[in-house]
Amino acid sequence: MAIMQPSTITVLGAGYVGLTTAALLAHAGYTVYALEPNKARLDVIKQGRSFFYEAGLDPVIKTALESGKFIPTNSYEDSVPGSDVVFSCVGTPDNPDGSSNLSYVFSAAEQAAKLMKQSAVFVQKSTVPVGTGAKIQELFSTINQSLHYVSNPEFLREGTALEDTLFFDRVVAGGDHTESVQTVLSLYHQLEAQRDSIAAIAAITSTEAKGEYIATGLASAELIKVTANAFLALKISFANSIAKLADKSGADVVEVMDAVGADKRIGRAFLNAGRGYGGGCFPKDVSGLISSGLDYGVDLEIMQAAQGVNGSMPGYVAEKLLQALNGNLEGASIAILGLAFKAGTSDSRKSPGVAIANILSKAGAVVTAYDPKANEEAKEDLLSNITLVDSLDDCVQNATAVVIATEWSEFASLPVTFYQQINSSLIIVDAVNKLDKHALAQSNLQYIGIGR
Ligand code: UDX
Repeated sequence: MAIMQPSTITVLGAGYVGLTTAALLAHAGYTVYALEPNKARLDVIKQGRSFFYEAGLDPVIKTALESGKFIPTNSYEDSVPGSDVVFSCVGTPDNPDGSSNLSYVFSAAEQAAKLMKQSAVFVQKSTVPVGTGAKIQELFSTINQSLHYVSNPEFLREGTALEDTLFFDRVVAGGDHTESVQTVLSLYHQLEAQRDSIAAIAAITSTEAKGEYIATGLASAELIKVTANAFLALKISFANSIAKLADKSGADVVEVMDAVGADKRIGRAFLNAGRGYGGGCFPKDVSGLISSGLDYGVDLEIMQAAQGVNGSMPGYVAEKLLQALNGNLEGASIAILGLAFKAGTSDSRKSPGVAIANILSKAGAVVTAYDPKANEEAKEDLLSNITLVDSLDDCVQNATAVVIATEWSEFASLPVTFYQQINSSLIIVDAVNKLDKHALAQSNLQYIGIGR
């Protein structure tokens, strides 16, 4: 089987996935164009930096740029025609009905196909509903029949993007053209060969990863991505359902999940109950899967239930605080610590911390919020009467209650004395279940966990 040996790659869209992929592939020895239409973002990338916060990424971008192998651009004409492989990493926002908005996916594919060279490979990394690849192949057949289409789902997490990509569990590539699928997998073999030196640049610790390379059919690859995320979301919602039962029955959901997760068949990961999942992936992937199921006449009730439980969690957290305040939030001074949808990122999309802040503010509380990285991004989603501050101390001063909404280590590791000095009868709502409840219980402070 003759596998193409690519030398030049274009990555369409330099967001979390695209920018990481492009910078890493440049370190693997390929000449990589990172195509970003947004001028402000492109300008930042051209300075050798990322426009979002991701640990280790800036030095990887900077060194790639200096090597001349990483070329940020906004021009399809300058990048695509000379490329053997074109990755699509464009955004797929959700429509108001929960389905995926694929307009960027199709327009990027069409624009690229018009310029791609004969027999080049188009790789879809954007998360798309199963069946999208077949439609894009149809489109390609009207533009250039020699192009090959491969789905290469992305599993990187924000906050650990480099680690996840370099020390992967699995790389999946699926398509009808076996050689092209192998070409895509070969890029990752090349990357794997360089991973220790890249990890050193990014200052991340190498782990003993035994990553698998998995070749599949096109539809399977598309479904693998959303199925993996949906299953993780399901685990979280399951843990949150059990947390509600634990609250009523006197059990501690952390103890429960530690023991349940010790069963290798189940696993401990993604069983952390709390304020629910947020971010650019899980909420969208779950609603996208539900809606693509309906398109095929399949009712994925189980995912609707997971979505329902998740949607209830910010309100559940607020409700617990309301009870502690004897049913009256009016005028209560509440500090929200954490607006990023999880620790390690500046991303506040669909963030539970933002949702909790807004619910409390609407209910009449005086809300002050702080996040070490996400203030800027969260600003536009917070109700206007919420005060956003630049430091932890400014956030908590005069608070009646503090809500920990993101598991930043600087919040999770605060000593009991920190809380005591704010207010000796402070209410602490640990919406991420990360605090030492026993240490807090010994003080006069009132600790409220989720299912603890
Ligand atoms: C996710 C997938 O993990 C990744 O494989 C995919 O490529 C993109 O989507 P990401 O959204 O970056 O990654 O974050 P992740 O770490 O998975 O967390 C998602 C959300 O679930 C966060 O809000 C997090 O706080 C929450 N979560 C996670 C829980 O509430 N409980 C858990 O046990 C784990």
